Order: sequence, then structure tokens, then C-alpha cells
Amino acid sequence: MRSVREAWKAAVAATVADMLAEKGADPALSEAVAAEAPPDAAMGDVGFPMFPFAKVLRMGPPQIAAALAERLSAKAGQAPAGTVKAVGPYLNVFLDRASVAEQALSSRSLGASYGRSSSLAGSKVMIEFSSPNTNKPLHLGHLRNDVLGESSARILRANGAEVMKINLVNDRGVHICKSMLSYMAYGGGRTPEDEGKKTDHFVGDYYVKFNELKKEDPRAEEKAQELLVKWEAGDPETIALWKKMNEWAVGGIRRTYERTGVSFDKYYYESQIYLTGKDEVQKGLASGVFFKAEDGSVRVDLTPIGLEEKVLLRKDGTSIYMTQDLGLAIHRHADWPFDRLVYVVANEQQYHFKVLFYILKRLGYEWADSLFHLSYGLVNLPEGRMKTREGTVVDADSLLDSLRELALEEIQAKGREDAVGDPQDTAEKIALGAVHYYLAQATPSKDMIFNPKESLSFNGDTGPYIQYMGARISSLLRKRDRGEGGAAKGEVRPELLSSPTEWELVRLVSSYPEAVEQAGAEYNPAIVAAHMYAVASAFSKFYHDEPILNCDEPDRAATRLALSEAVLVVLKNGLELLCIPFLEAM
Ligand code: ARG
Repeated sequence: MRSVREAWKAAVAATVADMLAEKGADPALSEAVAAEAPPDAAMGDVGFPMFPFAKVLRMGPPQIAAALAERLSAKAGQAPAGTVKAVGPYLNVFLDRASVAEQALSSRSLGASYGRSSSLAGSKVMIEFSSPNTNKPLHLGHLRNDVLGESSARILRANGAEVMKINLVNDRGVHICKSMLSYMAYGGGRTPEDEGKKTDHFVGDYYVKFNELKKEDPRAEEKAQELLVKWEAGDPETIALWKKMNEWAVGGIRRTYERTGVSFDKYYYESQIYLTGKDEVQKGLASGVFFKAEDGSVRVDLTPIGLEEKVLLRKDGTSIYMTQDLGLAIHRHADWPFDRLVYVVANEQQYHFKVLFYILKRLGYEWADSLFHLSYGLVNLPEGRMKTREGTVVDADSLLDSLRELALEEIQAKGREDAVGDPQDTAEKIALGAVHYYLAQATPSKDMIFNPKESLSFNGDTGPYIQYMGARISSLLRKRDRGEGGAAKGEVRPELLSSPTEWELVRLVSSYPEAVEQAGAEYNPAIVAAHMYAVASAFSKFYHDEPILNCDEPDRAATRLALSEAVLVVLKNGLELLCIPFLEAM
């Protein structure tokens, strides 16, 4: 269903198109009509800036806004319900509140499909995320990566895109050999079962132990290189150990994905594809896109993008990270011709992706323009920077375990064990809500500090707070179902939702689909997160200010309850997009 806001946007665009046509300009330029939220609700509910049309209409934005206001007012009756007003360079619209309320309440019957759109229908998006190394368990940075990737994928799907989620497992290289070498020195053939450890942690512990090995054996680094050469040569013993340790690592990592609700449509393993880029580099050399340097290495000139040159094949013919990514991108496009390929990778690799995209373009791949690096910042703890070697890295499982413990203590402290049913399960879901929300609400590109205590707070801009509002509404609906209050006798009348708190909720419920659409267009789950928090806080205020079940006018009680149900639909759908479990009781 088209929202009242969308109907207004269409009406404004049509009128702008008329004005353009009258001036002999291309009416299609009216596509630039965009809706914004005015800074103050007293100025209107939606604002349309007129700057984009000043030049072609040869009029100042305020004049355009005034002319539009006049034309649209004259069309009253045909235009959507509401009133318009020119405010400086903006055309602002005051929506007809009853129509918007009616639309908000319609979410109740739409249920899980409320907030879905077809804005990205027909487009194929491949999204790579997580991409762990198999020498250690997932850490807090991966949790940020994973929630950005999984959540973006869900948001893209909600907007109609066909999405392929992929994981590139970095299962080869000298760092993998280090954990193998350390296991050879200290492992004594033991298995994770012997030590009762989660398999990926078992592998990670040997990686950390490599530091000890280095102190004992000055040749340890060299030996790791030698082991890599043996691995590349296919030495059976090396391969056997590598396989065993990789299975442990990947197996454990997959269990963490299951725990956090993250999944992939396809796994790519670096060991299987790392050589593919070499041929592409040779082709590029033959066609003159690359050149051979004096030392025999193959390089690319990056001066056109303001960078120096970059080696693509070493003089001994071995490939590097970039070579592999070149081959992989080409392979992926052949595999599944995407309209967009998104790489969710830390901003430390900005240079890498800038160069990768440039080289692919130079090689003549038109689709290189559709590559996008969804770059995200570091996650640190209040205590400071995480470092694997100093033992300050926070592994994902331990973090989730400790959040679950804290949540459980909270449930017990409040005496809510019986009310929640299964306290362990509830605590786990609160922990997930806490960490996923905290990581998703931050602007992806920015570094952030993850504060575990803060993330768990039942008050403020947190996952548990939003989960709690969902549980509150669920409890309200259970009461209604038990026949409490007079709502059952009343009739739902959208026009009754007129107080400022009610209107604020109506507005937020009705604009939820737009938030999902914008989040999809910008690959930014934080937009959905911000909307969830706004809805939850508006509901909290409404719940506090207005009697719902106990309202003595039955129609009002029924209508307020209906609004609460509409809020519940938005909370459920939005939490799903953010990989946050919904809770019936907390
Ligand atoms: N495993 C890599 C790392 O830990 C990230 C891989 C990113 N993806 C890619 N296609 N280069 O740094």
C-alpha cells in the first residue's frame, strides 16, 4: 500500500514535472523530489527541498516552494488529504492525521510483511561478510562485521533484492602455519575433546602459544614460512594437520554463527581460490594494463588515483592478497552475475579495496563500478584497544557468555524467573539483543567503544530497552485476551489518535517502511536501529501518559490498544532485521 507520505511525494513530483514542462525542461527531472523531516513538527510533517530545481526553473527555491504551494492548494480534493505551506526553500506538508493513523493501524493485518518494499526488486546483491581467519575464534570486531552484514542482507531482502550472503574463509597463509607449528610443538596429539574446549578456541590457544615458541626457538618465524612452502607443495602430513585444525576452527566458528543467528548462502575457501588471480594478472600484463618492474615483479601504476605503484605478483611469481581478490571478484561475477557486490570489511582495508576496484575497472570489467566496500570502524572496549597478542582481545563467545550471566543476574534480582519462563534462554536473548543493537546502532564508518554494562541497560538507547517495550505490549495484549479492560466492547477509530504522544507514535509507525527503504539504499542498519529506539521511546511515553486498557471510553481503549498492536508489529519486524530476538516476556 502506498503511504500517505508517498502519495504526497508523488503529488509534489507531478506538480514539479508540470512546471518543468511549462519551461520547456525535461519533466523527468522531477525525480529529484525528495522528502525530509522538518526540524520541528510545528513546521510540518514532511518537507520537500526545492534547491535541485532552482537552476532549471530559473527561480529561487523559495519562489518555487510558494508556486507549488499555490498549485497544490488549488488542487485540493485531487491531492492527498492534508495541507501545504511554503517555508523558505521548502514545501512543507501537514499530513491528514486520520489518514496516517489509518495507515499505521493497517500494519496490524500486514504483520511480518509490514515494512517490506519492492524498491530493490530485480536487483541481485552479493554481500561478503565475516570472512574470518582459521587460526582463532571470532572476536568482538567480527560481531560488528557479522551484524552489519547479516542485518544489511535482511534489509536488502526486505526491499525486494535477491541477496547472496557469502563468507570468504581465510584458511591458508603463514598465520595458519603458526598455529600448526605451535600445535606440533606443544599439542602432543591432544584434541579439543581431551581438553573440553570449544574447537576454535583450542586452535586459537595454540596461535597465542606461538609467542612462547618464538621465545624458545629463534627460527620459529622462518619455520612457519617453511611450513607454508610445504603446504603449497602439498606435503601429505602438513595437509593432514592443516585439515584437522581447520575443521576445528571452522566448526567452532560456525557454532558461534548459529548462536548469533548469522548464516551464509555460500562459503568460499581461500585455499581453493588463492591461485586464480595469477592468470588475470598475466592477461593484464599481456594487454599492457600492468608492467614488469626491473626486479621482475608485475606491478600496476596507481598514479591516476593519486597513489604509488603496487606489486601484483612477486618476482618469484607468488601471488599476494590483491592478486587473490582480483581472481575472486571475477570468479564471483561469473558464478552469480550480481548488480552489486558489497564487501563488509574493516576500514583498515580501505586502500586495498580502492586499489582492487580501480584495477578491475582498468582490466575492462564494467561491473567494477558496482563494487562497494562497506567499511566499518574498530570496536574497542572502555579499557582500551584490543590486541590479540596482549590478550586484550575479546572473543565473541566469552563476551556473549558474560553478557548472558549479567542478564541472568538482572532477571533474578528482579524476581522475574517465573514470569519469563525460561530464564537461561531469556538471558541469552537479552545478551544477543544487547550486543547486536549496540553494534548496529553505531554509524558503520566510525570507530566505537563497546560498553558491555551500558549495552545491557533496560533504560536508554539499547537493545534490551526495545525488547522490553515489545514484552510490555505483549503483556498488554495477554491482559486483553483474558478479558481485562473495556477495549473489547469498543470500536477502533483512527481519528481518535490525536494527542501529541499518539500522533508521534502514529507518525513513527507509519514511517517505518521508509526507514527500511532508506537503510536498504544506504546499506545502513543504524537507520532501522534509530527508528526502533524512537518507536520504543514514543511508546514508553504513550504508555505512561495515556490509559490504554483502563481507559473508560471503550472506543478510545480499543483504538489505543490497536495502536499498541501496530507498534508491536514494527518492533517485531525491526528487531528481526537487526538480528535481535523478540521476547514475549522479560
Ligand atoms: N580475512 C581477511 C582479514 O582478516 C578479511 C577478508 C576480507 N575480504 C576480502 N575479499 N578481501 O583481514
